[in-house]
Amino acid sequence: MTVTDILAQKDFNFLNLLTLLKCTGEDQERLFAASKQKRISSIGNDVYMRGLVEISNICIKDCLYCGIRKSNTQIIRYQLSDKEILEAVQFAYENQYGSIVLQGGERCDQDFILRIENLLKKIKQASNQQLGVTLSLGEQSENTYKRWLDAGAHRYLLRIETSNEKLYRKIHPNNDLHSFNSRLKCIKLLQKCGYQTGTGIMIGLPFQTIEDLANDLLFLKEMDIDMVGMGPYLEHNNTPLWQYRERLISQPERLQLGLRMISCLRLLMPEINIAATTALQAIDSLGREKALEIGANVIMPNITPLSNRENYQLYANKPGMDEGAEDSTRHLIKSVERSGCKIKLNAWGDSIHFKRKTSFRQNEEGIEKVQKQPKQLKSPIE
Ligand code: 5AD
Repeated sequence: MTVTDILAQKDFNFLNLLTLLKCTGEDQERLFAASKQKRISSIGNDVYMRGLVEISNICIKDCLYCGIRKSNTQIIRYQLSDKEILEAVQFAYENQYGSIVLQGGERCDQDFILRIENLLKKIKQASNQQLGVTLSLGEQSENTYKRWLDAGAHRYLLRIETSNEKLYRKIHPNNDLHSFNSRLKCIKLLQKCGYQTGTGIMIGLPFQTIEDLANDLLFLKEMDIDMVGMGPYLEHNNTPLWQYRERLISQPERLQLGLRMISCLRLLMPEINIAATTALQAIDSLGREKALEIGANVIMPNITPLSNRENYQLYANKPGMDEGAEDSTRHLIKSVERSGCKIKLNAWGDSIHFKRKTSFRQNEEGIEKVQKQPKQLKSPIE
């Protein structure tokens, strides 16, 4: 079947996805045009902002690809104080970001759990309950996820990294702390607790095939996920996977493949939130804008205090090491607009997919509220 034939269909099977993921030249242009069109017709051209605060690089995990893995002794470990985090939150609030993401290395000790719980309450208070809060703090117990939800978080990102269990084992140490099934269980727990749930994968990993990526797309659909962040894998010299750097496809190829993945995902799941990830920008300074143009609708500018950024290098050449939050926000708004999209300020930017799912469930179960639906912030420009 040709790309044109496939694009004329309503849904795609595994073989269709393989064809789309492999396409180049004019076929790739057709694919991008189709996802661009689908995005406009289903969710419009709005782009939502999340101010990303990298709260700490202290991590109990030892993922073989990640620059902040526990065994990397070449970085200085840091933890932002509540004051520093609240300053970043204030910045996001004043600059009308609408929502923030707290991301950090994984910890599950009681001090950490309690600290995040209290921090969430302070953030909600400091922003008059106005800022939406997404967490990206790894695998936790159901009880912890619930406590953080009750304290004010409403979205959670936890990437599966790859939906191929064998590949998962190749890129993680082989022990209970790094189990594919635990990761999967946590994603399901997040959904059960009522979070808008995000996951994602890395593209261009050593040992990864195009078939794996087609399966990843089907996995995201099957899991009925609300938000996706996926980007190219980028080699880091202080990690074990560095030794396989010669078997990787080139970075420009990883970028193109990443864009085709986003494009296919928008066609498969028209109403979810898809992030234009920083890893795309690491390969091409306009990588994120290209992703927005063909279907992504969320951007996460880094608002971590500059002095800490160099120690949160998940991969080499991570962008934004030298540009403060204010400058990067101004540049970003301009360049997003050049890509034909419009930044929607002061909005939580919840996934329409999630809203539709929960209201459907509410109707089905005949109860008033299945999930605490936080009030949507109204934009002054609306
Ligand atoms: N290249 C690209 N992405 C990476 N991440 C971690 N290390 C790398 C890397 N070397 C991603 C993982 C993780 C997210 C926070 O960052 O997917 O879930």
